[in-house]
Amino acid sequence: MLYKDKRTYPRIYGLGNRPLGLGLRARLALQKFNTKVWYQSLSLLAQDDLTFLNYGYATTDSGAATLRLEAVDEANRYPIQLYHRVASAVDLRGKDVLEVGSGRGGGAAFVKRYLHLRSMTGVDFCGKAVAFCRRCHAHDKLSFIRGDAENLPFPAEFFDAVVNLESCHCYTSVDRFLAQVARVLRRGGHLLFADVGPKPYIDTLREQIAQCGLSIEEEEDITPAVVRALEITSEQNRKGIQEQVPLGLRSSFRNFAGIRDTPVFAACGSGEWVYVRYVLKKP
Ligand SMILES: C[S@@+](CC[C@H](N)C(=O)[O-])C[C@H]1O[C@@H](n2cnc3c(N)ncnc32)[C@H](O)[C@@H]1O
Repeated sequence: MLYKDKRTYPRIYGLGNRPLGLGLRARLALQKFNTKVWYQSLSLLAQDDLTFLNYGYATTDSGAATLRLEAVDEANRYPIQLYHRVASAVDLRGKDVLEVGSGRGGGAAFVKRYLHLRSMTGVDFCGKAVAFCRRCHAHDKLSFIRGDAENLPFPAEFFDAVVNLESCHCYTSVDRFLAQVARVLRRGGHLLFADVGPKPYIDTLREQIAQCGLSIEEEEDITPAVVRALEITSEQNRKGIQEQVPLGLRSSFRNFAGIRDTPVFAACGSGEWVYVRYVLKKP
């Protein structure tokens, strides 16, 4: 199905497997170009302390243990907790891991540092984000490469796990992305995945995941915990945007960040948008 969400983001979602006419392909190519321009612009405006670009996770279970973080990581507790929820679903100790859509690299660096991987590679199609990551996240066996999620620049069976967090809704073809993941994963390897979007997009995503040849080990709706994190971080993010973003762009950035009183925040809170998490395994 075709779903265009005009109020939250002006974006075409949920194309599934349907054959695409020339007009739709052109619109998708333009959308991809616009997405790249958006993230390149964000990289130009952002200061070095912006290393995560996700909505965060705050458990709604009052009995859950608090994730222990080094003092230097406390400022990013909620986006880190989202990475932890997604990436710690399987034991990544000693594994070669790829993150697709690694953004400003905070997540890849966290996963590498805390989950004891052998290596972590971040790939993103935004060249400025990759350059930032190379400058700001210098760790042994942590590298960043420019590349497209729909045409990953790696040989077959190269990684034990792929992490993909809040990036998939940007892709022109989710099917192509899933096929690329299946190609670069070793047998028994995992895709640790989370994404957000309008319910029709998520419904189509569920069908695509069910048909992609990877087996579903876990599926979870984490929307309440993400909304809770958005509530907690709203004021801090609003202040950051006020300080760093030119006046004319602030409203778009507030919506992008899902700050309280924006259409994105309202859509997540009302169930119009859903945030899902998956653990998939290559047989
Ligand atoms: C919302 S950000 C999330 C970044 C990171 N995962 C995080 O949580 O901080 C989405 C990221 O996906 C990247 N992206 C979008 N389309 C892509 C594509 N086709 N190939 C690779 N990266 C892409 C964007 O450049 C951006 O860095």
